[in-house]
Amino acid sequence: MKAKTIVTIVGARPQFIKAAPVSRALIPFFHEVMVHTGQHYDYGMSDVFFEEMEIKKPEFNLGIGGGTHAEQTGLMLIELEKILTSVKPDCILVYGDTNSTLAGALAAAKAGIPLAHVEAGLRSYDRTMPEEVNRVLTDHVSNLLFCPTDAAVKNLAKEGIVQGVHRVGDVMYDALLYNLANARAKSKILDQLGLKKGGYALATVHRAANTDSIERMRSILDGLGKLDTQVIFPVHPRTRKTINEWEISTGANVLMVEPVGYFDMLVLQENSNCILTDSGGVQKEAYLAGVRCITLREDTEWVETVAAGWNKLVGVNTDLIVDTYKNWHPQGERAALYGDGHSAVEISKTIFSALR
Ligand code: UD1
Ligand code: UDP
Repeated sequence: MKAKTIVTIVGARPQFIKAAPVSRALIPFFHEVMVHTGQHYDYGMSDVFFEEMEIKKPEFNLGIGGGTHAEQTGLMLIELEKILTSVKPDCILVYGDTNSTLAGALAAAKAGIPLAHVEAGLRSYDRTMPEEVNRVLTDHVSNLLFCPTDAAVKNLAKEGIVQGVHRVGDVMYDALLYNLANARAKSKILDQLGLKKGGYALATVHRAANTDSIERMRSILDGLGKLDTQVIFPVHPRTRKTINEWEISTGANVLMVEPVGYFDMLVLQENSNCILTDSGGVQKEAYLAGVRCITLREDTEWVETVAAGWNKLVGVNTDLIVDTYKNWHPQGERAALYGDGHSAVEISKTIFSALR
């Protein structure tokens, strides 16, 4: 019997990480064709993940790059349609909530090809976030919705989506379990930066609501600069642009470095004394590593990390960032919120059964 063809659409950093375990789990069941939209294109934002995580080389790279939301999404849609017309896949697989996700979802829906969405049902209930619009629209045209958490399943039910919904756990946990030993063995980042376990905090910032506001960026950088610890800050290119443009300075304790690879990031996370971030994936990884997370946003999709007591939503107020870092030290058990590390296999098997 001829293997069914699945087209995977990725484009941004967290999608490479999510696709790595799923792509491996698809091998026994499918012929996978990978399409990279080119949304992220720097070596440190893209190729490094393909190399470290041994992800297959994409058959297509659309080379879309940056642009306005309409430019990015529209150009991707046009190019994806051409690929789908020639490849004629049995299913399309998209991840998360970026413009690449939405373009892939629209292309699938317009072509009438079954769509599977990994990380379905996440909601911040903040429609000013571009990601929230992408999530809602993608979920509403998906046939198979793979939810990482119970909260995600409930969010979908509230919107009337109950068919094709599968609670499978989180593929980022699969990725972490698979790569952690290798990351510890191969990463030299602690030595390179002269760091000791617990001797520094780790920060990441890239959310549009923060990077596009001079007041919010100033407030965050002031907060990081006043922490009584060294801060390692791998700076996303979007954030680098705004910091340079507005010439925002920070304390001497903050070391701004280029974005790091996945192995270095896992090691930096697990050895830090605190993580301060507005990233979705990093909030989860902080929980999984047992490191307290101060989230530089007013809301989150990963509500269970907050309920568990390991994540605090502080927004961007400088004093609150400093005070929370100083006085908040969560302890206690961390329940297994994100599955058992076999989410990718479950996803692959479920798609296979659904297409039979
Ligand atoms: C995107 C996603 C966001 C996700 C993030 C992961 C959308 C709307 N946003 O945000 O949900 O959390 O990726 O990191 O899809 N740039 C470079 N080199 C690169 C990539 C980006 O210089 O390799 C610069 C470009 O100037 C670009 C800007 O960063 O215009 C923003 O990139 P873009 O992909 O549009 O959005 P992100 O902020 O990365
Ligand atoms: N990450 C990384 N290097 C960095 C910053 C983040 O490898 O310099 C990883 C991080 O470990 C997580 C993922 O990228 O697995 C999160 O992606 P990002 O923060 O870009 O996007 P989000 O999750 O907010 O959509």
